[in-house]
Amino acid sequence: MTRDADHFTLGIETSCDDTSAAVLKNGREILANVVSSQVKLHGPYGGVVPELASRAHLENIGPVLAEAFLQAGVGRDQIHLLAVTRGPGLIGSLLVGLNYAKAMAYARDLPLVGVNHLEAHFFSPFLEHPEIEHPLLALIVSGGHTSLYFSPGPWRYEFLAGTRDDAAGEAYDKVAKMLGLPYPGGPVIDRLAAGYQGEPVRFAPPKISDGSLDFSFSGLKTAVLYLLQKEAIPPVADPDHPGERVLALLKGFQETAVDHLMSRIEAFCRLRRPRSLLLCGGVACNSALRRRSREFAAATGIGVYVPSPVYTTDNAAMVALAGYRHHRAGRRDPLEINAVASLPLEG
Ligand code: KG4
Ligand code: ZN
Repeated sequence: MTRDADHFTLGIETSCDDTSAAVLKNGREILANVVSSQVKLHGPYGGVVPELASRAHLENIGPVLAEAFLQAGVGRDQIHLLAVTRGPGLIGSLLVGLNYAKAMAYARDLPLVGVNHLEAHFFSPFLEHPEIEHPLLALIVSGGHTSLYFSPGPWRYEFLAGTRDDAAGEAYDKVAKMLGLPYPGGPVIDRLAAGYQGEPVRFAPPKISDGSLDFSFSGLKTAVLYLLQKEAIPPVADPDHPGERVLALLKGFQETAVDHLMSRIEAFCRLRRPRSLLLCGGVACNSALRRRSREFAAATGIGVYVPSPVYTTDNAAMVALAGYRHHRAGRRDPLEINAVASLPLEG
């Protein structure tokens, strides 16, 4: 039974290749978080195909919302607030969720908040840990982003470093594709690398010539490609048994990629002295990154927060929470708001 005084936020996320809807009660309790993944659809292409993604969102959004209401035990007429991702992301995908939310806001005269997808990722650790303290450092690391932010207090975001080329997840996906491993590459490479006990192939750490603390993953990806060509390593026939040399290569790739991420985290923690470190986005599922950041936390006393896997990858629960917090702070967007493919996180 729910009391009339309860507040329900409906979150909608369609920025990339996941269609998701969530119901958040009183800004704290997630009653439903339904995610329909398009991995099977894009798998044969080794990456997301925008045109296919937006068409699939159109087909999925109705059933995903119906399932979220069913799981939450909440009717459409009980929703008080609509929170929807408006960017950054694929424009055709964003428009599906945004237009759905606008139509519902108009029909039911509900407040609408357009949410920045990066800010939603930033809020994802707060779903399970509302006690997280500022100042904090947040790494948003996924197939589309590799960015570090410093947040001295609520609603304030200072961009510290970003990738000069590929995002970390993109590098994982591309290396998997080179080897004929399934998409998305991150979970597969992680599993194979973590299970291999032998010596890794040593790759040079990424270096940026001007000495900045930005990220770069394309050199590492190219080093993997050169090695495959030099040693004439054929595509993997059986992803569960890729062979000793491929395993050593994947372990080396993972170690180098995670060392690179950790080097920036450690450098900015020394410079900014945060109380908390947040790891957000799909690559935050990575076992080596999780282990290394926990060791770092134990050594430095900084609180490290990594969401459960369902909240690290794209999901509407984090969108609902970000929208709810904005609304509590007095925000309501007009129905004229637009989707923005490259929306920065500012504040
Ligand atoms: O946040 P997300 O679901 O979607 C966006 O890109 O916005 O992240 C998906 C990315 C993919 O590139 C995938 O390969 C990567 O996260 N990923 C991982 C792992 N799990 C997912 N990368 C490394 N290790 C993992 N365990
Ligand atoms: Zn994302």
